[in-house]
Amino acid sequence: MWVRRVKPWVFAACLIPLGLLVWRGFTGGLTANPIEYITHRTGDWTLRFLLIALAITPLRRLTGWAALASFRRMFGLFAFFYVMLHFSTYLVLDFFFAFDLIFNDIVERRYVTAGFTGFVLLIPLALTSTKRMIRRLGGARWRRLHRLVYVAAIAGVVHYLWLVKIVTLTPLVYAAILAVLFGARLWFWLAARAARVMSPTKTSGDVAADAGSAG
Ligand code: HEM
Repeated sequence: MWVRRVKPWVFAACLIPLGLLVWRGFTGGLTANPIEYITHRTGDWTLRFLLIALAITPLRRLTGWAALASFRRMFGLFAFFYVMLHFSTYLVLDFFFAFDLIFNDIVERRYVTAGFTGFVLLIPLALTSTKRMIRRLGGARWRRLHRLVYVAAIAGVVHYLWLVKIVTLTPLVYAAILAVLFGARLWFWLAARAARVMSPTKTSGDVAADAGSAG
């Protein structure tokens, strides 16, 4: 199947941002403030991959292109991969494991609190992303848990909005994309509910499956 052939290429493309950072690292291209540069690029890509992962279900529903669903987990896991790099930069390069300072920073600076919340919420999602975990939790419970990805994305956007001293266009664009994705989800939910009313023989499970409940 073509998905199998394309997947490794998509996987490789998702590694390009990391590759660029490594390349810049070796060629002295990380600017005068490398820690800030790495933090910003890994933060950007965390948010981008989160939004891409969240866009898969609405796109699949709009286009009817079922194969898109096969990429959702990969994008979600790449969001987690980049947030791990983002947080590791903060933990190791920025604070060098000074846990007391880190604790104070997370408590005192609201944008760090928001970012940390997003990061913590993504951990159970990454840990339960395997087929085995889906089976163990059961589809309905797994889908409910994975709705946390929306809260993580909100936390990520708020983190960005709060960290910029003057609100610029970029965080607002991310916020707008997230709002559209929420709107699409609401729309599908309402459509599924209407379908349930029109055809009561459909079980709520069928309708939830039609709506692609986990993002
Ligand atoms: C879902 C989780 C997170 C997302 C989506 C995220 C995203 C972002 C984004 C988009 C930026 C700005 C990039 C730019 O200006 O181009 C950023 C910056 C930053 N993030 Fe995060 N982040 C997350 C979690 C965290 C965590 C857990 C920490 C540390 C505890 C953290 C610390 C920072 C710091 C220190 C900056 C730079 C702030 C500055 O330049 O003043 N982030 N992050």
